[in-house]
Amino acid sequence: MQTLEAAGPNAEQIEFWNGEGGEKFVRYQNALDAMLEPFGAEAIRQAVVRSGEAVLDIGCGCGETTIDLSRLVGVTGEVVGVDISEPMLARAEYLAAQTEMTNVFFELVDVETGKLHEESFDLAFSRFGVMFFRNPATAFRNVHGALRPGGRIAFACWQPLDRNQWVSLQLKAVLPLVPPPERPGPEDPGPFSFGDPERIRRILTEAGFTDIAIEPFAPKVVLGGMLVLDDAVDFSLEIGPVSALLKDADEATRAKAREAVRAALETYRTERGVMLSAGAWIVTARKG
Ligand SMILES: C[S@@+](CC[C@H](N)C(=O)[O-])C[C@H]1O[C@@H](n2cnc3c(N)ncnc32)[C@H](O)[C@@H]1O
Repeated sequence: MQTLEAAGPNAEQIEFWNGEGGEKFVRYQNALDAMLEPFGAEAIRQAVVRSGEAVLDIGCGCGETTIDLSRLVGVTGEVVGVDISEPMLARAEYLAAQTEMTNVFFELVDVETGKLHEESFDLAFSRFGVMFFRNPATAFRNVHGALRPGGRIAFACWQPLDRNQWVSLQLKAVLPLVPPPERPGPEDPGPFSFGDPERIRRILTEAGFTDIAIEPFAPKVVLGGMLVLDDAVDFSLEIGPVSALLKDADEATRAKAREAVRAALETYRTERGVMLSAGAWIVTARKG
C-alpha cells in the first residue's frame, strides 16, 4: 500500500474522499450504484473488454465497476481498482469478497502523484473517477505509462452542470436560500470539470493519447435509484453540490431547503421514482 501525499496537489480531495465525502459515498453506495450503473455499462460496452485482459479502474470508489470488469476479463485476466479513499476501498474489498471473483484487487494510490504498475494494463477504465485531479495531464500521463503498448482508455465523465438536471434542479431550488457559492475556475477539479470536450481532448493529447472519441450518453435516471420521494430528497441534500451549499446552513435554512427540494422533485415523480435527465461523455482513446 502506498502513502498518499497528504500535502500534495490533491490534498483537498484526499481530505474530502477520506472524510465526509467518502463516508457519504459508502453510506449511499447502493443508491449511487443503482443510479450510475447505466453509465458504467455504456463505458464498458465502448471499451470492448476481452477475456484475459488486465484492466486498471481509476478512482474505483466502492468497486462496482471493478467487480463488473473482473467478470468480463475472467480468471485469465485481472482488474486493479485504484483510489485515494480508504473508506470506499474498504467497502470495495468487502463487496468483492462477497463474490466468487479472485482476480480483482484494490490499491490506495493517488493516480496523479502515486506509482502505477508500468506497462501492465490493456485497458484503463473509469466511471466518474477522473475529474478530481489538480493536474489532470500529469495523472493521465501516469495512466498512459501504466498501459501496455497499444493499450486503450475508456471512461465516463459528466457533461456540464446545465445538462445534468439530477443535480441542477435541486441546486436551483436551494440557491435562493443561501449565500452565492464560489464558481469553480475552468481548470479546477470537480464533478463537472470535464464538461468541455475540448478540455478533455487537450488533456488526453498532452498525456500522449490518440484516436480520441467523445460520445454523448444522456439517459434519464431514477434519482438515487429510489422509489420513495422523501428518500430521494434526503439523497439530494446529502450528496454532491447541494450538500456543499448547505454545509454551514442553520436548522431553519435546512428545513426550507428540504421543502424547496421536495417541491422541485415532486414535479418529476413517477411510479419508478423521480426521473431526471443526466448527461455524460463516454471518452475512448489509445496509447499513442
Ligand atoms: C464520483 S466517485 C466515483 C467512484 C466510482 N468510480 C463509482 O463510479 O462509483 C470519484 C472517485 O474518484 C476518487 N479519486 C479522486 N481523486 C483521485 C486521485 N487523485 N486518485 C485516485 N482516485 C481519486 C475518489 O476517491 C472517488 O472514489
